[in-house]
Amino acid sequence: MNESNQLPLQLQSRVTLCSREEAARAVAAEIATLVRARPDAVLGLATGRSPIAVYAELLRLHHEEGLDFGRVVTFNLDEYRGLAPDDPRSFRAFMRARLFEPAGFDPARTHVPDGAVPDAELESACAAYERAIAGAGGLDLQILGIGRNGHVGFDEPGSPADSRTRSVALAPETRADAAGAFGSLDAVPRAAITMGIATILSARRIRVLAFGATKADAVCAALTGPVGPDVPASFLRRHRDVRFFVDEAAAARLRAVRSR
Ligand code: GLP
Repeated sequence: MNESNQLPLQLQSRVTLCSREEAARAVAAEIATLVRARPDAVLGLATGRSPIAVYAELLRLHHEEGLDFGRVVTFNLDEYRGLAPDDPRSFRAFMRARLFEPAGFDPARTHVPDGAVPDAELESACAAYERAIAGAGGLDLQILGIGRNGHVGFDEPGSPADSRTRSVALAPETRADAAGAFGSLDAVPRAAITMGIATILSARRIRVLAFGATKADAVCAALTGPVGPDVPASFLRRHRDVRFFVDEAAAARLRAVRSR
C-alpha cells in the first residue's frame, strides 16, 4: 500500500493508492475493528463490482477469525425501482448472496430500500428509511463506489447536497453500464431509490473504492474539480473522515494534477 508517493500533497490526506486487494484488506480490517469494538455497529453498504473484494475479505474474517456479524446493522445505498427483493437482479439479492447469508448477518438487521414499493407509498417508505438509519444511531462507516459520471449510490449529476433518500431517474450512462446485468439496455430500470448526498455525508466515516481506467475521470473530478451537484462525488470532500482507495489506473489523472 502506498499512501503518499505519486500523489499531489493536497490529496494525500484523502487518497490511498493501492491495489483492489490491498484496499479490500484495509477496509475490511477497519470494519472488523469497528465490529469487534461494537458488535451492533451500523454499516452503510454498496453494490457493484468495486466492493466485492471487501465482502470476500469480510467473509474470510468471518470463517477464519470468527468475526461475528450477527448483531451488525446494515443499510444499503440503493435499489432499482420495480425489482422485488427476491428478484435475482436486485441489489438485495446481490447482498444476500455475496455477504449477508454466507457471513451470518441477521436478515432482520439488514436494510435495502424496497424497489417494489408502490408509488403511493414511495415517499413514506423513503422517509422511513431515513428514520431507520437515524434510529439505529446513524451510519458508523459507509462503503461507496463511484459511477463513471461521478455518481455515488444512485445520486446522479444534479443531486443536491441536501438530498435524502428518494426516487431518482437513472442517467443514460448509468443505465448503459447496467445493461450487461439486465441482458439489454431496454430491460434496465429507469429509476431507483437511493440514499441522498446528505444521508451519505451523515456517516461518521466514508470509504470510497474506485478501480480501473474507466473511473479515472470521475475520481479526478471528485477530488480536484469544483464541489457541486455536477459531480455528486465531489461533495465527499466536505466530509472530515473520507478516504478514497484507488488503483494506479483510477488515479491516472491525479498524477497529472501534480505534474502541472
Ligand atoms: C451503480 C451503483 C453504485 C456503484 C456504481 C459503480 O450505479 N448504484 O453504488 O458505486 O454502480 O459500480 P461498480 O463498482 O460496478 O463500478
